[in-house]
Amino acid sequence: MKTVSVAFLVLLASAVETMFAFPEPLPTDPILLSTAQNALTYNYFTAEYFSTVPPPLGPLQTVAYPAGSYGTQNLRSLVAGMLSERFDVEVNPERLYGTAGVTAALDSLMFILQNRNGVNNGVLTPTPFWPGFKWTAEQLKNNGILIPFEVSNQETMQLTVEDVKNAIEANPNARFLIICNPSNPLGVIYDKEELENIYSYVLDTYPEMHIISDEMYAHSMSPEYYDDFVSALALPSYTNGTREQRQRVHVVWGFAKDFGLNGFKVGFIHSENPEVFGAFRPRDTVYYPTNQSLSFVMTPISSLTTYYLEGLLSATANNDGEKVWKRGMQRYAEELEISYFAVKERLDEAGISYFEYNHGASKINMALLPRIITNSQLTWSFPFIFFFKKVVNSSGSISLVHQRQ
Ligand SMILES: Cc1ncc(COP(=O)(O)O)c(C=O)c1O
Repeated sequence: MKTVSVAFLVLLASAVETMFAFPEPLPTDPILLSTAQNALTYNYFTAEYFSTVPPPLGPLQTVAYPAGSYGTQNLRSLVAGMLSERFDVEVNPERLYGTAGVTAALDSLMFILQNRNGVNNGVLTPTPFWPGFKWTAEQLKNNGILIPFEVSNQETMQLTVEDVKNAIEANPNARFLIICNPSNPLGVIYDKEELENIYSYVLDTYPEMHIISDEMYAHSMSPEYYDDFVSALALPSYTNGTREQRQRVHVVWGFAKDFGLNGFKVGFIHSENPEVFGAFRPRDTVYYPTNQSLSFVMTPISSLTTYYLEGLLSATANNDGEKVWKRGMQRYAEELEISYFAVKERLDEAGISYFEYNHGASKINMALLPRIITNSQLTWSFPFIFFFKKVVNSSGSISLVHQRQ
């Protein structure tokens, strides 16, 4: 009997897989853009900060366990200062919990707050949504499940209190509502008044329900739309809510998107919930008897990343002493605008339709393209159009393949 080597089988399987996954002949060096990474901040942050910092491996604190696996006191204060400016409310560093990225922040939050006894672990979110919400929901006990619901106004894609009301009534098992604002993938910035209606309705009517506001893209919009964004922490239903209501509103933000520091994997939760406090800071509480912080066990921030981020958030620009992060975010918003119009022009030229609501974070996805176009002289090839169309019609996130000239 003839023997067939494992290597041959693997080769064959991968060829077959490629054939089915990509029915068109592929270019030899495809760039898949199914993951959005922001490259617009890199040059500025490198010039103003990364190229100037002394080699980090030296001080003991850059190799030892960080003092606070959920973010050192200093890092949390710096992040609180930065978020206070963007959110236009005082953010308390003692209510911030750092994690290894926002995916981990979402995982941790829902892990801590899930209903462990009953079946109420449905996670509602408007569709289209960032697929990570599904991964996270499915980790929960008692058949954790993501329950996407449609917004009724498909023209503006604005979420309304009616949409939320209908979704909750149809899914009495829901435990969480995730609102991603500005939304990924569409970039819609939700209307302030309607958000207030939604929050006050949910907080008043459903005492078991938690709202998680993913504000990952809080800086990712053109300057013109900057004031349209409102953080959940600045809504009257939150600021004037009862203590119990405030304990059911949680905000997440991280360095991956706005700052373009995806690989750093650092995210933050803002929560006033005592169970969240107990899980992250067990020494101060009776909630978690093991005395070990959830972040230390599951999702710590590394000391090296802490070193860089503390430096970045403290750095001031050489010429006028303004904070590097602040100037960086202003420049980023402007570059996003330029990139957006460059991509829009090319898409219009190629006759490819796209979503265009109120110019929010969708630009972060589109803004990737002109960089690649400039760097490798792209042509608008058939596979490009094929994949672009395919993705817009299904999940809403972008997956593209390009061909060199
Ligand atoms: C809305 C949203 N939340 C969270 C994340 C994940 O963030 P991180 O890379 O920090 O885990 C992403 C990444 O694409 C995102 O788009």
